[in-house]
Amino acid sequence: MTKAGAADENLEFLLSQRDFERLAHFVNGHTGIRLPPVKRAMVEGRLRRRVRALGFADFGAYCAYVFKENGLAQEGEFIIDAITTNKTDFFREPDHFRFLEQMILPQLALEGRIGFTEPFLMWSAAASIGAEAYSLAMVAAEFAQHHRGFRYSVLATDVSTEVLTKAATAIFPASMAEAVPPPLRQRYMMRSRDRSQAETRVVPELRRQVCFARQNLNDPVYAIPRPVHVAFCRNVLIYFEKQMQQAVVSRICDCLAPGGYLFLGHSETIAGFALPLRQIAPTIFLRL
Ligand SMILES: C[S@@+](CC[C@H](N)C(=O)[O-])C[C@H]1O[C@@H](n2cnc3c(N)ncnc32)[C@H](O)[C@@H]1O
Repeated sequence: MTKAGAADENLEFLLSQRDFERLAHFVNGHTGIRLPPVKRAMVEGRLRRRVRALGFADFGAYCAYVFKENGLAQEGEFIIDAITTNKTDFFREPDHFRFLEQMILPQLALEGRIGFTEPFLMWSAAASIGAEAYSLAMVAAEFAQHHRGFRYSVLATDVSTEVLTKAATAIFPASMAEAVPPPLRQRYMMRSRDRSQAETRVVPELRRQVCFARQNLNDPVYAIPRPVHVAFCRNVLIYFEKQMQQAVVSRICDCLAPGGYLFLGHSETIAGFALPLRQIAPTIFLRL
């Protein structure tokens, strides 16, 4: 390992085309995320601090380390954590949560079956730091308040272990809580006692309903408890090739109960894919 001395602290860390291609090939093979040539500066930016922190003089030395025998076994997870885009919010694309509250849950109450004789299982399939999963839990917890005997749980999965670790703490910057409708914020989020922290935490009663696991959507088989009644797979298909998008949604369909629902991100489409789904609202699908 070449150590960077104080003198070359300010060296420009430039990623060569060849090293970018090697990294892109690894990331794509492992996660399905596409990294076309225009992403080179992004990859460079996201890995630069890591290259420095490990003490390498430049990207060339770092990549020699990464691509030596067993290098990826040690560094691969870090690269995935750095390259994945984890932007998220509570109640992001709020009409999805309204649909759950106003259409799906009332229907369950009428049927008195799912949620009452068996727990209602929701899956956040690219969960990032957990805001989506806790938003789902808040909507279900509200419903449970008015429907005795209703039971639910949320499974939150992601390929990045770093975000999952954060998600499990259920601690968020206080600014993120602004997107939570005020009555729910009051019931389900606690401000840090130390006001200088500007942090908020999801209450324990809700945390108990959400569990976390690593699931790579690129895996040929998903280790997900079945059947799932609602799957949120939002703002992740955009990173994949068309063929992979279809394979991912098909595998999610295998996990969904007939009559269950799939939610995609507002900029995502599965038009033209042959899948056992019927679109019932923009980016909302019923499993046939
Ligand atoms: C932009 S965030 C979306 C978070 C949330 N679903 C939302 O809409 O707010 C995309 C997430 O997908 C995850 N991801 C990317 N590739 C993945 C894969 N192959 N398997 C599982 N998760 C993946 C990333 O780690 C990241 O946390």
